[in-house]
Amino acid sequence: MSKDFLAITDFTTDEIKETFELALDMKSGKIAPLPLAGKAVACVFLKPSLRTRVSFEVGIMQLGGKSLYITGDEIGLGKRESVYDAAKVLSRFVDMIMIRAFDHKQVEELAKHAEVPVVNGLTDLLHPCQVMGDMLTALEHKEKVEGLTVAYLGDGNNVANSWLNAATRFSFDLRIGTSPETQPNQEIVEKAQKVGLSQISVTFDAKEATKDADVLYTDVWASMGEKHLSDKRKKLLESFQVNDDLLKHAKDDCIVMHCLPANRGEEITDEVMDGPHSVVFDEAENRLHAQKAIMVKLLSQAPDERGAFQKFE
Ligand code: CP
Ligand code: NVA
Repeated sequence: MSKDFLAITDFTTDEIKETFELALDMKSGKIAPLPLAGKAVACVFLKPSLRTRVSFEVGIMQLGGKSLYITGDEIGLGKRESVYDAAKVLSRFVDMIMIRAFDHKQVEELAKHAEVPVVNGLTDLLHPCQVMGDMLTALEHKEKVEGLTVAYLGDGNNVANSWLNAATRFSFDLRIGTSPETQPNQEIVEKAQKVGLSQISVTFDAKEATKDADVLYTDVWASMGEKHLSDKRKKLLESFQVNDDLLKHAKDDCIVMHCLPANRGEEITDEVMDGPHSVVFDEAENRLHAQKAIMVKLLSQAPDERGAFQKFE
């Protein structure tokens, strides 16, 4: 098993299924493992966050550990000191590092030199913890992950790229509906197509992407770090807004997802976000359960050293 969780592809399909099982067992209160008793996790944020920060901090507390919130100014990653030095120093103090950053390569470098597990809490390229929570939510609402038709509408960003990675682990019909200028990472698309487990398509037609979808997914049109592109993106992506008209093309029992935060009235309307198909707040909650399971799995690689699993049954 991988030391780190930087991408969905760091876990095998079986490891992801085990993670979901563990997450649901913890969510239902069936088990309460405490692998973080007496341990600390550095939570490094080079970008803002509500869900990721709170779900990790609460999750770490529920697993018996202590989280340390470290801002970009404090860590000065690659500026105040090298990524190598920061990785070595943090590894002497903490038992795990969670990081939200801009540059995915910087996170890979941190993980390479850290002696403790590193978890990706979002980079410009990927948002794997988000899509783990999303798949868990789909599993709860649709009773399966495999075989779903997933339509991702809007910017081909870090969340879209992580859905493409997920499609190398589970068989989906994954349609990305976006503009020619906002397509997902080409290398990730090609890899997913090459693996051949899922049907992968990128279309510039929102209705074509949405047709008979089980899951309708959207995210902001301009991600953190690219808010200056907001006006341009609005023009490029307005036909991909998830609204009542578009919803008619999906399956009658489709679920609507958004990783949040949302720009209501842009990529999604109030009617859809607050409507009967929306599961956006279940998704937000499932970040907590999915991430706790990810942390337990990463730490369970050295159970003797990492502490006890306490069972309540
Ligand atoms: N979905 C998500 O990662 O939200 P935050 O940016 O608030 O952490
Ligand atoms: N794509 C968004 C996701 C936020 C959770 C961003 O990177 O800003």
